[in-house]
Amino acid sequence: MRISEKPLAARLKELGVELHAGVSLSEKTSLGIGGTTDELVLRRFDTIPEVMHLLADEKIPHRFLGGGTNVLIDDGELPWVVLHLPTSQPGMRVEGNAAYVDAAADLGGMVTFCAKRDLGGMEGLIGVPGSVGGALRMNAGAYGTQIGSYVREVELYRAATGAIETVRGNDIRFDYRHTSFAPDDMMLRVKLELPSKPFKEILAGIRVCNEKRRASQPLNQKSAGCIFKNPPGGSAGRMIDELGLKGHRAGDAMVSDRHANFFINAGKASCADMLRLIDDVRERVRSKYGVELENEVILWKN
Ligand code: EPU
Repeated sequence: MRISEKPLAARLKELGVELHAGVSLSEKTSLGIGGTTDELVLRRFDTIPEVMHLLADEKIPHRFLGGGTNVLIDDGELPWVVLHLPTSQPGMRVEGNAAYVDAAADLGGMVTFCAKRDLGGMEGLIGVPGSVGGALRMNAGAYGTQIGSYVREVELYRAATGAIETVRGNDIRFDYRHTSFAPDDMMLRVKLELPSKPFKEILAGIRVCNEKRRASQPLNQKSAGCIFKNPPGGSAGRMIDELGLKGHRAGDAMVSDRHANFFINAGKASCADMLRLIDDVRERVRSKYGVELENEVILWKN
């Protein structure tokens, strides 16, 4: 979707929106997959409601992209503009046991920032790639930690009301890789409450998690983390591994030979390649185990 030529481009600029024309989203995603569209960087939170009204009035379809680490985006010319928060110097501050963090901040950066101020609890999240906003929306978790446990308040743009709202942590449901946020809610800022812990102790915890992750996950390859959610009481990675599917491919999309629930872009994989691989593996797991695996990765399909 190209809006650079439309009259509304000038008004968007006045509202502090930065417009990048013809961006390849393959450069914005950890999978290195995704077609082309215009990107709008929302520099001023206070103008977001007006920007969103403008887009709605002009009937311009849009999607919101966070860190791009858990999304599989279609190939070719995309039918939506992509909205993005500025990632340079996101706000982070600590007051007592509370941390106030912009959604665009890097998740690992936030964990370290808090650790240096003797606030812990989130050690398990250290190697989870992505933004704080993306982690909130999915309730990211690893090694027994999930971000939702620490959330006290979230400031978000709620598409349903067209306004910026603050929601209390108690009013949000955080389940396994799922929350009660609406798909089009846009996370802006979060307040977390974290337990006090000496930096050295937090660092020791972080090292253990980093070590476990390095030993079991393909960290230097292009992936979106785990492709499937674990079924209740089971492990998607173990089932796929037991089927002998490590290294199995569809074009350049490949099941990691390190962790079978990580699918890798091993070259120039397209979204179509990745979808073929996902369907193929899901079908094999269904016929062997009778389990229907659910995507953990979020699919943006035309
Ligand atoms: N396993 C295999 N073969 C494999 C992979 C795993 O046999 O190729 C076995 C392991 O030996 C272990 C079991 O399966 O006994 C579980 O594996 P692992 O400890 O790696 O955890 P997981 O359930 O596969 C989950 C999260 C990860 C998170 C890790 C660590 C999901 C879908 N995955 O993986 O999160 O990093 O635990 O806490 O919940 C993600 O969300 O993208 C993600 C990678």
